Amino acid sequence: MAADADLAMPLLWVPRDVLNMTGTKHGCGVAVCGACTVRIHGHADRSCVIPAYTVVGKSIQTIESLGTPDKPHALQSAWIARQVPQCGYCQGGMLMAAAALLEKHRNPRTPILTQPSPTSAVAVRVNGFAPLFIALSAVLARA
Ligand code: FES
Repeated sequence: MAADADLAMPLLWVPRDVLNMTGTKHGCGVAVCGACTVRIHGHADRSCVIPAYTVVGKSIQTIESLGTPDKPHALQSAWIARQVPQCGYCQGGMLMAAAALLEKHRNPRTPILTQPSPTSAVAVRVNGFAPLFIALSAVLARA
């Protein structure tokens, strides 16, 4: 945690405003849309409603930790191949939710549509669910 962070602020603002890592987005601000999703100790959580002081000492992952342009994460490659992002605004949150889901359910035979999904974690405002499920299924098939 950055030394100059106000620990009473929502976790969302620490990477964005203190660390200048803007991949995590502010959407609704009330834990509904999922655009602010980060991983805390591997679990996907909505950073807009989590006070920063509650996560001091915990592992926090944002979209910036998932991959790089030169070495994208398998999910990012699948997202690009299947053209999942539309406006792209919520993709950081969606990918973090998908990464948590992928780690939790590595068995590709797991019926993905009956498990908690990135779409239950991120309320997409556009029509992107079909390519999202195709991309996620492709990554799970290779796991
Ligand atoms: S901004 Fe956090 S859930 Fe919408």
